[in-house]
Amino acid sequence: MGKFENKVVIVTGASSGIGEATAIDFAKEGAKLFITGRNKERLGNAAKKCKAAGAEVHEFIGELAEFQNLETLIKESVAKFGRIDILINNAGVADLKPIENVDVDTYEKLFHANLRAPVFLSKYALPYLKISKGCIVNVSSVSGIIASPNLVPYSMTKSALDHFTRGFSSECAPFGVRVNSINPGFVETRITDSMYTSDESKKKGFERSKKKQPLGFINSHQISEGIIFLCRSEMTTGTILSIDGGMILSS
Ligand SMILES: NC(=O)c1ccc[n+]([C@@H]2O[C@H](COP(=O)([O-])OP(=O)(O)OC[C@H]3O[C@@H](n4cnc5c(N)ncnc54)[C@H](OP(=O)(O)O)[C@@H]3O)[C@@H](O)[C@H]2O)c1
Repeated sequence: MGKFENKVVIVTGASSGIGEATAIDFAKEGAKLFITGRNKERLGNAAKKCKAAGAEVHEFIGELAEFQNLETLIKESVAKFGRIDILINNAGVADLKPIENVDVDTYEKLFHANLRAPVFLSKYALPYLKISKGCIVNVSSVSGIIASPNLVPYSMTKSALDHFTRGFSSECAPFGVRVNSINPGFVETRITDSMYTSDESKKKGFERSKKKQPLGFINSHQISEGIIFLCRSEMTTGTILSIDGGMILSS
């Protein structure tokens, strides 16, 4: 019997990349999955993989930059499964451009999806996590720790998310609820592909990233391992855990 047998796990942004890998890995551990995304087809494929691993799965399609979807998501998960044990705030977007070219729409989309959504999903999930003595993992980034050109608003969302993790974990500890952060380095996913406008700029960007990460590129399951560790580790809270292939070390 897996440690997460019958635990109800919400994974946002599970239609690809790190979120999909995390949902599949929790499914293999016996969890029941409530997974979210915007792309119906990709989310459906992820759900199929979780079901193939033996999990009961519920899909929620919705834009998390839209505020009203956040409470709806939590209510729907409780209506479906009756409890919440784990919330993985993974959904996120990036935009690679200098501040000179950032408009207010881009800025707001980044902050709403990467910061406001995890904050309010956590708030709405907290009453249920208090009952289950559950936990939250926020998927942040090494970009929240080190500065990089052309990623400034994205990095700001992630460093604010890290501080949310620290502050909120101290509010939650008296209730036996834990809040931690996983901060990936470069993982090749749709997000990293989407940051480049041409094959040439992508090739150069990937080469630059590879040089900064001495252990090489990370795969999504290696991030999921860290997420699952933080959920297992009963005395760990307020931790900002980098899985970065040595990127911070070499910065
Ligand atoms: N890949 C990396 O190198 C890296 C490094 C550090 C941190 N991260 C973080 O890891 C997390 C997962 O990213 P990933 O690399 O796995 O990228 P990904 O494959 O692009 O996955 C992103 C997921 O988030 C969902 N999503 C994005 N914006 C959303 C929005 N506004 N509303 C609802 N859902 C939204 C996407 O849904 P749809 O595709 O269905 O729209 C998708 O399921 C992000 O928070 C990212 O910042 C990634």
